[in-house]
Amino acid sequence: MREKYLPYYATYSARAPITFIFDMLFRARTSGQRISLNYRLHDYLKLQKNPQLFILHRKINAILLDALKKWPDHDYGEGYFYQSCSEVELGGLRDTAGRMQAMHLRDYCKNMYVVDIGCNSGFLDIALAPIARKITGFDINPFIIDIGKEVLAYLGVTNVALSATTFEVFIASEPADIVLSFANHSTFDGNTEQTVRTYIEKCHQILRPDGLLLFESHHPTYESKESLEETCKIITEMFSLQERRILQSKNFFDNGRTFIVARKTT
Ligand SMILES: C[S@@+](CC[C@H](N)C(=O)[O-])C[C@H]1O[C@@H](n2cnc3c(N)ncnc32)[C@H](O)[C@@H]1O
Repeated sequence: MREKYLPYYATYSARAPITFIFDMLFRARTSGQRISLNYRLHDYLKLQKNPQLFILHRKINAILLDALKKWPDHDYGEGYFYQSCSEVELGGLRDTAGRMQAMHLRDYCKNMYVVDIGCNSGFLDIALAPIARKITGFDINPFIIDIGKEVLAYLGVTNVALSATTFEVFIASEPADIVLSFANHSTFDGNTEQTVRTYIEKCHQILRPDGLLLFESHHPTYESKESLEETCKIITEMFSLQERRILQSKNFFDNGRTFIVARKTT
C-alpha cells in the first residue's frame, strides 16, 4: 500500500489499474510485492460495481497505510494483505480458501470453539465462521486486527471475536476445543517472547481435555528441518499425534509446509 493509492479508494479511478500495472512491472522490489499488486489490480476491478465494498476497501486500505507508517515490525504482507478474504474480494499472499481445503478445517472446526493464535486479520476465522460455534482470534498487531474488525462488521459476522493482544498475556474465556497455531510458534518480527516449549505448553493449557492442536509450520524456506523436528518433538511430549503431512499447494507461500494434528491427552 502506498500513499498515492489512497485517492483511488476515494473515487473509483480509471488511472488506478494503470498505476498498479506500472508499479507491478517497474517498482515492486520483491516477488511478494509484485504478487500483491497483481491482487490489488484484480480486487480493484471488482469494486466498480459494488459501492458498499468500495467503501470497505477504502477503510481497510487506509488502516493498512497507517500500519505501514506506525507499526515498526515485519508486517507479513509487505505492505499488502497477508491473508486473502474472498468474502470481500481481497487477495493476499496466503490463500485462505486453499488452506481451509488443504487442512480440512471445515471438518475439524464444525461446531467447535476455536482459538486462533496470531490470527493476522482473522480472515481464516471469517471463513470458518459459518462452521464453527465460536472463534477467538488475536494478534499483537492492532492495525491488522482493526482491518479484520472492519470486515467482520461489513459481513455481519457475530461469532468471531478479534482482539489485539499477545499470546504471552492471552487468557481464554473457556477451554478451547481447537487451537490453531499457524505459522506462529516463532515469528520473524521478534515479537514472540516465549520459547517454542512455553508456546506449546500454553497451547496445551488453553485446550480442553481431548482438544485438538492444529499446527502449521513456517514455509520450508524459512524454517530448518532441525528446528521443525525439535518443535514436533515438543508437541509429541504433550500431545498424541493424529496426523502429520506436507501441505501441497499451487501457491508458493502455502506449499510445502508441515501440518500436524495433535490431541491433548493429559
Ligand atoms: C506468519 S504470521 C501468521 C498469521 C496467521 N496465523 C496465518 O497463518 O495466516 C504471524 C503472525 O503472528 C503475529 N504475532 C507475532 N508475535 C505475536 C505474539 N507474541 N502474540 C500474538 N501474535 C503475534 C504477527 O503479527 C503475525 O500476524
